[in-house]
Amino acid sequence: MKEKILEFLAQSKGSYVSGEHISEELGISRAAVWKHMKALRDEGYTIESSSRRGYMLPLEADVLIPSEIESRLDTEFVGRHIVFLESIDSTNDHAKKIASKALDGTLVLADEQTKGKGRMDRAWSSQKGEGVWMSLVLKPNIAPHRASVITLIAGASVARALERFGADAKIKWPNDILLEGKKLCGILTEMSAQMERIDYIVLGIGINVSTMEFPDELRDIATSLKREGHLLERRDIIIAVLEEFERMYSAYVKTGDASEAIGICREKSSLIGRDIYVISWSGKVPAKALDISGEGDLVVEYEDGSVERVISGEVSV
Ligand code: BTN
Repeated sequence: MKEKILEFLAQSKGSYVSGEHISEELGISRAAVWKHMKALRDEGYTIESSSRRGYMLPLEADVLIPSEIESRLDTEFVGRHIVFLESIDSTNDHAKKIASKALDGTLVLADEQTKGKGRMDRAWSSQKGEGVWMSLVLKPNIAPHRASVITLIAGASVARALERFGADAKIKWPNDILLEGKKLCGILTEMSAQMERIDYIVLGIGINVSTMEFPDELRDIATSLKREGHLLERRDIIIAVLEEFERMYSAYVKTGDASEAIGICREKSSLIGRDIYVISWSGKVPAKALDISGEGDLVVEYEDGSVERVISGEVSV
């Protein structure tokens, strides 16, 4: 019922809806309407109220309503089943728990993560309402060694989606998206596989949307769309990312063709042409980033002139 009320208010964002109207439309008492409004406010939603005019969600409110995403989304299977959680430890961990029974393309979406995970056991700061915290369960019929390209497809999808809204994001191979040189989005791909066959992939995407204050250790290296002047709603970003992703992902899974995604990773690369460090178990090795190969590897040239394809891992500038 709470979600229905939220949906109702969201439909008339910026204008008041009377308590009487809500109670009639949803078949609940005025007292119940009041109780649900209180619960929503306690959860952190800003709902304005006036004794004469009723209740209103402010025009700038960014409320995530799964049914709104479902009805606007133009995909065949990606995001067609949505598991929405107001608060969860990590959408990736939740997606892994449900993966074996979940349909291909199931989306796990949360308003808040209490233990968001980054790569290399790092934490991912995921404040309530401030970003897109989502994970897709994917069940591609491809060999496990071909799965790493899916991370690049996800990065290309985020960059293309943001382009639709006028944000010129760069891709830092293999899985960071930068805006104005700072990290805007991270991708964490986890896989359960046998030697020859993938059981499932959980593709986690975190995009900072409206965060204005980051923890001290992230202040100089992270940013959000709002901080860079892009006022977007999470719903619109999610829809755009899923649509871009489905097109490129389906092409790859069906025909092995990742050329569109890899082309975008090249075109929007923050590394190609720059001096970087390749970070491996043996330390940080200086190199120049030359290209991204057709298979999605980073082609680098070391100081001794040798050229190598870096298959996966960390690089820094
Ligand atoms: C990184 O850059 O280190 C990867 C960050 C990935 C964050 C996303 S947010 C949604 C999903 N759930 C998680 O716990 N992590 C990913």
